[in-house]
Amino acid sequence: MSLFSPLTLRDVTLPNRVGISPMCMYASRDGLVADFHVAHLGRFALGGAGLVIAEATAVHPHGRISPFDTGLWSDEQIPGWRRVTALVAASGSVPGVQLGHAGRRAAVREPWRAGAPLDDEDASAGFGPWPLVAPSALSAGPGHAVPAALTTAQIARSVQDWHDAAARAVAAGFRFVELHGAHGYLLHSFLSPVSNRRTDHYGGSPENRLRYPLEVVAAVRDAIGGGVPLSFRISSVDGAEGGLGIDETVEVARRLATAGVDVIDTSSGGITTDRTVDTRIRRGFAFHADFSHRIRDEVGVRTATVGLVVDPEQAARLIHDGDSDLVLLGRQALDDPNWPHHARIALGDDTHESWDVRFGSALGPRARTLARLAAAGETPLSRFER
Ligand SMILES: Cc1cc2nc3c(=O)[nH]c(=O)nc-3n(C[C@H](O)[C@H](O)[C@H](O)COP(=O)(O)O)c2cc1C
Repeated sequence: MSLFSPLTLRDVTLPNRVGISPMCMYASRDGLVADFHVAHLGRFALGGAGLVIAEATAVHPHGRISPFDTGLWSDEQIPGWRRVTALVAASGSVPGVQLGHAGRRAAVREPWRAGAPLDDEDASAGFGPWPLVAPSALSAGPGHAVPAALTTAQIARSVQDWHDAAARAVAAGFRFVELHGAHGYLLHSFLSPVSNRRTDHYGGSPENRLRYPLEVVAAVRDAIGGGVPLSFRISSVDGAEGGLGIDETVEVARRLATAGVDVIDTSSGGITTDRTVDTRIRRGFAFHADFSHRIRDEVGVRTATVGLVVDPEQAARLIHDGDSDLVLLGRQALDDPNWPHHARIALGDDTHESWDVRFGSALGPRARTLARLAAAGETPLSRFER
């Protein structure tokens, strides 16, 4: 299989296997899409990505990571997203969204303000903290508030929130839905024994820790129907003492796939913010590829891999060698939104036909001019050397 071959998931065909990983931009007010999001996400579609996954988008206002997260907890948020999905789809890409609830890791500042828990200073600016919820009343780390353990009735309401947000996602034009089940947020915090110490049927055994995520998957599938692909981002390993390891995660992936999840998006970490606990896995190139490969092989489910994928040949090999079915780019795409087009050129199959015709019709002839100049030994600095 090649990087630029299509991938059909249910009723949706991605034109190629390069996707844009969800990335919070902290550019929203009241969960509403801003002009910024339209430009930011649109340029990835124009850049040739087959799939553009919008940032972690809250299913409930208390599930926002920061006050500036996007949301789909209200119908008022649908029209803004339609602007994004229309542009992405018109550019030949598939619009996706990651739905999330930050759980005990909610109510923090933007990363450039250290991601610190919101405090009185934020409250005086009108962005005060809100009550946190989690499987158990255990804080995410130093400085974070202790969350309230969800009651059974609250869990049922929360499942409904996911359902309703997913229905709004489809109404907004998204054709790919991902659930954020990683990085210590609410779904992950139910899965992991580090954060889930419940003694009822939502905690304890692996089966019980899976119960809430599986209820969410079922509700979301019900909301999006049988045609829209569903992805689940997992933390392949917690990295923390007593946390999930890859063996247990393979079994989690198996259960998710059986429940109707089409893609397991393999990330890692985040179960605690305590810096004295070393949870980081080494950031090498394609640092989750061993996890996605193993889950793909053992479960027989499609996988996505993410993490320091930066090079066209590297991305092509990840697909060719069966490490994953999809390669997601995060920071590389921030650096170069045209990376998919550039990768095609580097891999030798670019004719500029893959670009938007407004760009391609100009860049094709320019490429031929540049090739002629190079063949003649001319460089951009030649005139200064004469
Ligand atoms: C600015 C920024 C925001 C991010 N926001 C999210 C997010 O909303 N949801 C998520 O699952 N991961 C998020 N991540 C993680 C990325 O999706 C990706 O997994 C990670 O950056 C590793 O890939 P990369 O090396 O290609 O950047 C974010 C990363 C960055 C840099």
